[in-house]
Amino acid sequence: MQKIFMTLALGSMLAHAAQDKKYILTNTQLLEAAKVPALMSDSKTGMAVAHISTLQESMLIRKSHERGRCAGFELLPVQDFTQKDFQKILQDVAARKVLDQKAQKSFKRISKKESVVAAINQVSAAEIQNWVKWLSSFPTRYHKAATPNKHVEALKAKIDEMLVKYPQVKAETSLIAHQSTPQKTLRLHIEGNKFPDEIVVAGAHLDSINAGFFGPTGKIAPGADDDASGSASLLEALRHLLAQGSFERSVEFFWYAGEEAGLLGSAEVAASYKNQSKKVVGVLQLDMTLYPGNGDGKIVSMTDFTSPEMRNLLEEINRMYLNIEIINDECGYGCSDHASWYRNGYPAIIPSEATFNQMNHNIHTEADVIDSKSSFEHAAIFSKIAVAFVSHLANL
Ligand code: BES
Ligand code: ZN
Repeated sequence: MQKIFMTLALGSMLAHAAQDKKYILTNTQLLEAAKVPALMSDSKTGMAVAHISTLQESMLIRKSHERGRCAGFELLPVQDFTQKDFQKILQDVAARKVLDQKAQKSFKRISKKESVVAAINQVSAAEIQNWVKWLSSFPTRYHKAATPNKHVEALKAKIDEMLVKYPQVKAETSLIAHQSTPQKTLRLHIEGNKFPDEIVVAGAHLDSINAGFFGPTGKIAPGADDDASGSASLLEALRHLLAQGSFERSVEFFWYAGEEAGLLGSAEVAASYKNQSKKVVGVLQLDMTLYPGNGDGKIVSMTDFTSPEMRNLLEEINRMYLNIEIINDECGYGCSDHASWYRNGYPAIIPSEATFNQMNHNIHTEADVIDSKSSFEHAAIFSKIAVAFVSHLANL
């Protein structure tokens, strides 16, 4: 009897462990360093799919940290995969690489708009500071917190209040519920007056996390830099864009749910946009804007899981309006919500505060707060980029 009980208990433990295994997309170098076998890999792109246990997950995280990275992999949002699915995932990565090489031939040139110059001159570091202060004052914005939507609903109310001041703008906020997380994504839709079916997307993740070596700790997670800062840079850009009144294309702002748990909110949003054949002309992601790790006035453009035509637009915007130094760097995996859009075939970019090895190392801890190294002028650069990105992409 006891033996049967023990066998049953062991069986259920093993079943549980198997259930806890996750499918990930990452690069082969990291898998080799952590001695985790790949289920399938592609030598041309250097990317691989693996099925990992919690133990292997912490090994990957440790190896990734040693290389100055965060987790170092992207969770694939499904429980069961077949060989064919792996092939498709890796083929998609390779196909996008080819498309990206072709896209380089059709770079968009922009001409200076006085309205953008005026808006950029009015971007306020103090406004961004207020938003970061407010967002990081919630004890946590973790997607599985006791009240995972408290700050989401509070921000919706603040944006709705802001919209009242611009009655001429056709704008509407909504909360998007998800399958993979109890947290909701907040969206603001501004209807285009000429091409309403074509959408320009600008986003940041609103959730935060306190993550130890063995997963989330449940401790406080102020997430001032990651990513109250990107959320705040976006809110300041929104203020100036609303003042412009209308756009030819539709514009959508997103404050995503559950990014820190594997791009959960954006993965669902981007997949559903693709299923509905929605036309998204460009995606800007702001994730970490507050810490000038490479020095004042120097920012980074991540070159992986992003599109050359969008990176070129960022360079154009810089030449036209900012004249700062943009350093190219790589995450090495889909490190933020831009990757969800990119994986669904939409062109995306992520300008960010610093190179991976110079970025803020207090993220994902209770020490990610506003401190002497925080620079709201640095965060203001990203609001300016968002203003120019939306103004140029949303009007022909
Ligand atoms: N903000 C980080 C990633 C990041 C770092 C973006 C540096 C830009 C520059 C993000 O919130 C994060 O922690 N992502 C996870 C991956 C995600 C798929 C869970 C990571 O990097 O481990
Ligand atoms: Zn982040």
